[in-house]
Amino acid sequence: MSTPTVRHFLVDTDLTQAEQAEVLDLAAAMKSDRYGYRPYAGPQTVAVFFDKTSTRTRVSFAAGITELGGSPLVINAGESQLGHKESISDSARVLSRMVSTIVWRTYAQAGLEEMAAQSDVPVVNALSDDYHPCQLLADLLTIREHKGALAGLSMAYLGDAANNMANSYLLAGVTAGMDVRIAGPEGYLPDEAVVTAARARAAETGGSVTITTDAAQALSGADVVATDTWVSMGQEDEKAQRVELFGAYRVDEAAMAHAADDAIVLHCLPAYREYEIAAEVIDGPQSVVWDEAENRLHAQKALMAWLMAASGQAEVAGIGDGARR
Ligand code: CP
Repeated sequence: MSTPTVRHFLVDTDLTQAEQAEVLDLAAAMKSDRYGYRPYAGPQTVAVFFDKTSTRTRVSFAAGITELGGSPLVINAGESQLGHKESISDSARVLSRMVSTIVWRTYAQAGLEEMAAQSDVPVVNALSDDYHPCQLLADLLTIREHKGALAGLSMAYLGDAANNMANSYLLAGVTAGMDVRIAGPEGYLPDEAVVTAARARAAETGGSVTITTDAAQALSGADVVATDTWVSMGQEDEKAQRVELFGAYRVDEAAMAHAADDAIVLHCLPAYREYEIAAEVIDGPQSVVWDEAENRLHAQKALMAWLMAASGQAEVAGIGDGARR
């Protein structure tokens, strides 16, 4: 039997529509049987690197790895040689011999790609400057829980539409077959390469893409409304300019009046009330942000288990047919 290729999750489109659904199904199963899945039994170690700050990602990965029977090794910026005293490629070769999965929150997407190219174990993007694909698995799980399905739903993202969350909403949403509308000011819209990739994926799944500067157009009848901070990590010096620029894209009650009456509201958190989202919205009845935060745990557990199974490095009930071992 041939050795399976190691699977990584660096960008939302690394999972096909069917694979994404399989991960979300597994996440739902794990959520209802929280301690019943142990692909990291041993315990096997998972290295979790943070070059940027984090609360949700750090805690959900550490808790999730533990719940999967493993041992999380969290390594903060400045605590390892990775990327400054040792090349990413050499670090990947060493880590592959010691741990079962590598999770990394970093700046450059290229660094994750270099890590994955040399790693014999799955590599997971825990946020880069370009994408936040683990967050989107949690978001899709949350939408499914509240709406029952994903394909055919419309999802509007408002605000800084050139950031990692906008890119991931676009790519993960169309992978699920959703109608994704992205709205932001001129000059702060998704990169053309990301839009092209999203349109290609949408053509396979029945999803669709709208990129606009008109917030009301994006919001019109939307089933899901999402936003993110206007000042991402590393942009703190631009705060005053950004608040001015993105003001027309605030998710407040006036904005929500354009969406469907039963629309739900997502925010990956941390949130800045009265900037990108009004307090009456994030703390109101349409907000599902606390479910969304909890679902980071369940979605990432499912992702790690799925990657291990798909890479032939673990058996997970319901994933594959045993031939993946
Ligand atoms: N949403 C998110 O990634 O949160 P943290 O930055 O706290 O991990």
